Amino acid sequence: MPGSAWDPLQYERFREQRAQPYRDLASLVEPAESMRVADLGCGTGELTAWLHAALDARETTGIDSSETMLAEAAPRRHEALLFQRADIRTWTPAAPPDLIFSNAALQWVEHHEELWPRLAGLLAAGGQIAAQMPVSDDHPSHTVARELAGEPPYRDRMAGYERPFPVLPPERYAEMLFTLGFERRLVRLQVYEHLLPSVDSVVSWMEGSLLTPFRERLAGPLYERLLGEYARRLRAHGPDSRPYLFPFKRLFVWGRLPTGRVAASAATRRQGRPMRPARRPGPMPRAASPSSRSGSVE
Ligand SMILES: C[S@@+](CC[C@H](N)C(=O)[O-])C[C@H]1O[C@@H](n2cnc3c(N)ncnc32)[C@H](O)[C@@H]1O
Repeated sequence: MPGSAWDPLQYERFREQRAQPYRDLASLVEPAESMRVADLGCGTGELTAWLHAALDARETTGIDSSETMLAEAAPRRHEALLFQRADIRTWTPAAPPDLIFSNAALQWVEHHEELWPRLAGLLAAGGQIAAQMPVSDDHPSHTVARELAGEPPYRDRMAGYERPFPVLPPERYAEMLFTLGFERRLVRLQVYEHLLPSVDSVVSWMEGSLLTPFRERLAGPLYERLLGEYARRLRAHGPDSRPYLFPFKRLFVWGRLPTGRVAASAATRRQGRPMRPARRPGPMPRAASPSSRSGSVE
């Protein structure tokens, strides 16, 4: 199962910056009574517990493939807040959730053209899906990591590792949600501005997420060497200013099925019919809510 090398302590170093998009994603959800919620890639479960309380949910299950993350989540567990070790690619819920929620995790899962219809098909009638995915793949924080993975001496030790970037163009999610029969939809691209002490803080940030597969594959001293080179190249990209403005692009996708209807993918499976849009596209149902952060490119 992927994700065993996730380091909760390192991840939590940028806790507040990571919590804000989680809350912004939650604000897109339309609360309903007694919801059954699944939080895919729940990490340490701290935010899952917050979501469970915020929605006053009947039951919330946090799903993650990382043992270390789930060990942090375990003490938060109670009879209505559960955590389960599973891979998003193959996870199937015990009962159809009213909400599938996922913050900063689906960008680690490949083949979104199959993944999204599959997840939509797991929803209960009238259910909602809400996901936030970082899309900063063209920022030096990501391009430099890719460069290094392809260079000696790291390339050999990385055993051909290439970080896939499975996130599709934003408009594709709008199309998929429409085709899957989601009656209400929202797709929003937003730039979060993080003011960090210096560019070196980006290294620490990425150590908690993007660089996890490097730590997993490189022996200690080689990983330290990689970090040094990564920092040097990031500084060279500039600006090497103090403070350093770290712009971080995030994609929000939310959809709600019509009351009493399951997703077209599920209906197709159940009835053996080809997939079709439930209805003609209408105007966006609601204005994208501006977040407290500036720099939105909605
Ligand atoms: C960046 S963290 C996000 C954690 C949490 N959602 C939050 O917002 O703080 C990504 C999480 O996704 C999990 N993850 C990555 N790929 C996964 C997969 N295929 N199945 C289950 N969990 C996965 C990782 O273990 C990690 O805990």
